[in-house]
Amino acid sequence: MTRHFLTDLDLSPAEQAEVLDLAAAMKADRYGYRTYAGPQGTGSKTVAIIFDKTSTRTRVSFAAGVADLGGNPLIINPGESQLGHKESVADTVRVLERMVHTVVWRTYAQAGLAEMARYSSVPVINALSDDYHPCQLLADLLTVREHHGRTAGLTLAYLGDAANNMANSYLLAGVTAGMHVRVAGPDGFLPGETVVAAARERAQATGGSVLVTTSAADALDGADVLATDTWVSMGQEDEKSDRAEVFRPYAIDEAALATAAPGAIVLHCLPAYRGQEISAGVIDGPQSVVWDEAENRLHAQKAIMHWLMDASGLLAEPGE
Ligand code: CP
Ligand code: NVA
Repeated sequence: MTRHFLTDLDLSPAEQAEVLDLAAAMKADRYGYRTYAGPQGTGSKTVAIIFDKTSTRTRVSFAAGVADLGGNPLIINPGESQLGHKESVADTVRVLERMVHTVVWRTYAQAGLAEMARYSSVPVINALSDDYHPCQLLADLLTVREHHGRTAGLTLAYLGDAANNMANSYLLAGVTAGMHVRVAGPDGFLPGETVVAAARERAQATGGSVLVTTSAADALDGADVLATDTWVSMGQEDEKSDRAEVFRPYAIDEAALATAAPGAIVLHCLPAYRGQEISAGVIDGPQSVVWDEAENRLHAQKAIMHWLMDASGLLAEPGE
């Protein structure tokens, strides 16, 4: 059965740990894995990487990652293919699966990813949708492991737009890793009931927990990991002027950081807006690990690509 990575829940707690272990191993041996290399003397395998929204980190980390794995990254930029205006998702992927070995897609609606996976015999990976950013969370969890030595039992506080893709993914991936996840945002910008219920259910199996609150102070108090994200996600640009004021109490600045645990680390998926969701002093300060986090996109995504190929029975035997 082909495995896909569409939401953070697509990996069980044990599978997530396996992928993170693999990511750490790949980081220690950057060119040691040849997932997409063809048998000697033949061509390499291709990964289609489709963008309906703009990107720096995701584009570069997937392109470099596929190349590291001996494959050929085929980047399709917004507006460059027939997908979405002239051709359906189903017809598109029925063509792609005949030619490529994995499809990576950054898009708007989560339903599109689900439809793509339904028609695809090769793994489909969510490179950010309106609802989730699961690849980012693998990188974030790898970063937490590196700096705190573990994830289970730690408290992660996410502040800001708690209804966006990053908030949802922090909830689901965080509890999968056994973390106590607190998300804080203003009324009207809190996660939906379905995501919260799914996170609570998974937390029961891992010893994690979930707190959803409008109190930034309650979320921050003694937290081991702080995280935030832009207040205006891609596709929300028209709401920009209304959002700044309502989100202001949820900014991660020096005062907020002082109420976290003494050794707390600060995450931000980037791009960051200094002076809005995070102060320059915090993101450029000693507790910020955002550059490690950005680098870890490369290692984490190589790991999930390799893991999905393996779990789907699509990995060639050595020497084949
Ligand atoms: N964090 C992240 O996904 O960055 P990009 O939008 O630049 O890919
Ligand atoms: N929430 C942001 C994440 C960017 C990586 C967005 O969707 O624009």
